[in-house]
Amino acid sequence: MSGPVTLSVAAAYDLWALDYDGFDNPMVFAAAHALSQASLSLTQKTCLEFGCGTGRNLAALAARGATRLVGFDLSSAMLVQATKRDTSWTLFQADVSAAIALPDQSADFILFSLTLEHVAELKSPLREARRLLRAGGTIKIIEIHPFMSLQGISAHFKAKDGTEVTMPAFAHPFQDWMAGFTEAGLRVDGLKEWRACDLGPDAAPKILRRGPDWPWLVDWTLSPA
Ligand SMILES: C[S@@+](CC[C@H](N)C(=O)[O-])C[C@H]1O[C@@H](n2cnc3c(N)ncnc32)[C@H](O)[C@@H]1O
Repeated sequence: MSGPVTLSVAAAYDLWALDYDGFDNPMVFAAAHALSQASLSLTQKTCLEFGCGTGRNLAALAARGATRLVGFDLSSAMLVQATKRDTSWTLFQADVSAAIALPDQSADFILFSLTLEHVAELKSPLREARRLLRAGGTIKIIEIHPFMSLQGISAHFKAKDGTEVTMPAFAHPFQDWMAGFTEAGLRVDGLKEWRACDLGPDAAPKILRRGPDWPWLVDWTLSPA
């Protein structure tokens, strides 16, 4: 076993991809719980996830009636895992900070889950999400709570040989989120801070170790302003 290594975001997730879904990660558990509790009408809708990873969220959205699932990610190995879940989904490799090769107003629901912590600048992905959102659509952002990220806590995992792997991550205080939403022409319809005590009876002891009131996630619901 060696000391911690820092890899690029794409290289880190390429390495993590095979084990990502099986990894006992409290943040992933919390984000899945938050999405499962969202009040969404997805029947016959098109859903798009920025940074879809292994497609676990796309699968959850499909189970709730969405008929067209679209996702993209920086990591080709994460996309391989997503493709294994369902070959009918539209999946492609892209950077959330670049122009996305999809037409204007192509999605009814757009999700960001645990992706924007890896992006220094929120404005560009938020502008693209606004461009891609249909009238009447919803954007949901589920992300590590600023109280955690501002303490230097960020995505990390243990590789098969025991090496601790970290990758670039950026804390986004509330004022940055609000500035990004305003600039992109998005309205805040909801903000939930998911504390340990909100995460249900299945929450692992790991989640409770910071106390029941510790906020793990911030969960924004947005629509066109
Ligand atoms: C913690 S995983 C979350 C995956 C998925 N959203 C989920 O909730 O399971 C973060 C994902 O964001 C992707 N990602 C990070 N930065 C990205 C970027 N700039 N463009 C596209 N994908 C990115 C990573 O490759 C990884 O798959």
